[in-house]
Amino acid sequence: MLPQEFIRVKRDGQKHDRESMHEFLSNYLSGKVADYQVSAWLMASFLKGLDDEETYWLTDEIVESGEKLDLSDVDGIKVDKHSSGGVGDKISLALVPLLASAGLVVSKMSGRGLGHTGGTIDKLESIPGLRTEFSTEEFKDLLRKVGAAIVAQSDALAPLDKKLYSLRDVTATVEALPLIASSIMSKKIAVNSDLVSLDVKLGNGAFITNLEDAKELCRIMLSLGKQFGRRVEIHVTDMNEPLGYAVGNSLEVIEAMDFLKGKVNNRFSALVKQLYVDTLNSVNLPVPDFDKLIASGKPIQKFAEMVQAQGGNPKVIDDYSILPLSKNIFELKADKSGYLDYNNTVEVGMAIVELGGGRTRKEDAIDHGVGIKFFVEGGDKVEKGQVIAHIYYNDQHSLDNALNRLSHSFTIKETESAQRPLIWWSTNSKE
Ligand code: URA
Repeated sequence: MLPQEFIRVKRDGQKHDRESMHEFLSNYLSGKVADYQVSAWLMASFLKGLDDEETYWLTDEIVESGEKLDLSDVDGIKVDKHSSGGVGDKISLALVPLLASAGLVVSKMSGRGLGHTGGTIDKLESIPGLRTEFSTEEFKDLLRKVGAAIVAQSDALAPLDKKLYSLRDVTATVEALPLIASSIMSKKIAVNSDLVSLDVKLGNGAFITNLEDAKELCRIMLSLGKQFGRRVEIHVTDMNEPLGYAVGNSLEVIEAMDFLKGKVNNRFSALVKQLYVDTLNSVNLPVPDFDKLIASGKPIQKFAEMVQAQGGNPKVIDDYSILPLSKNIFELKADKSGYLDYNNTVEVGMAIVELGGGRTRKEDAIDHGVGIKFFVEGGDKVEKGQVIAHIYYNDQHSLDNALNRLSHSFTIKETESAQRPLIWWSTNSKE
């Protein structure tokens, strides 16, 4: 079938057959189908949808486009984690060493930040010297030695996803549920872990903005997990405000380390604690008491071990000045008294991009030292003149742009908003 005929099938709302999907996508991988043709197909799929069978075929094509990572020669219960992306989402930096210190082997392949969502790899690379690119054997050695590793998504795994994702990103086709499900699950299916733990972000700082869509995404991903033989646990978690006090690369690493030392008490720490309990329950392991585990110092030591094994300076856990941090700090003050209400958290993420801490094109370099440290959370009462946040910036122009973005991200309301849950919904393969 010619590419234009294949595209026409979806444009007209009809169902593909497996053979033509294979032909179209494999020809795309080998360069015989052009980016603009795949872009047209992605938009048709966005508008007309893909049914469960088509989503399964697409996922299979992505999995089979590259190598598979076989972890069966790494001892232990292996957990893989993925977040659909939010603002201030440094959960992996905290949860990976935390779960490893409780006895799991946590293998985390992450992406870089694009658009309003930061990337775990960018955050971790704030630590000088730390490497995130490893061969398969090196990755497995990290898991055997430390029990935890956060590395860049290997180019060899699911290469078709990389190509499709970069097109989706610039053609406004990211937010299609079957495309998100196949993208996330293909990368998890290419690795044979014992549990895939997924965090679907929901809210005005996420790709998914309503609970029905989030539940439908969970349904598709659970079904893919079942068809490909992966145990899956999914939490739909709130992304209607930045998660935690820090947004920006170095600052988020600091918040994660503070958490691992038991020094953080906010929505971020509450969420990581719950994910810790649920993940251990999902694999039927006893749950060590969280406070005792933190007090033992094992979680922060595990973070240091992970950093050292990946070539970074483990002293960072005691000396945060090792991290790059901008010297210029702007104090953002409340212009009136009332309750802080985020109505567009995406703009907080975009403020980081304006400051230079994120990228709008995948080849952009980023500045790890800029960011925002908040002193209040969404819903908190603030007084006129109170410092809401410190903005770490490098030049006046980017600061002005960031402030403009922030001014569209929240308002100060006279009345208190209803409390939002941290976890909107959760499900797993057992149910
Ligand atoms: N994260 C992914 O890996 N893929 C998507 O499509 C969306 C979020």
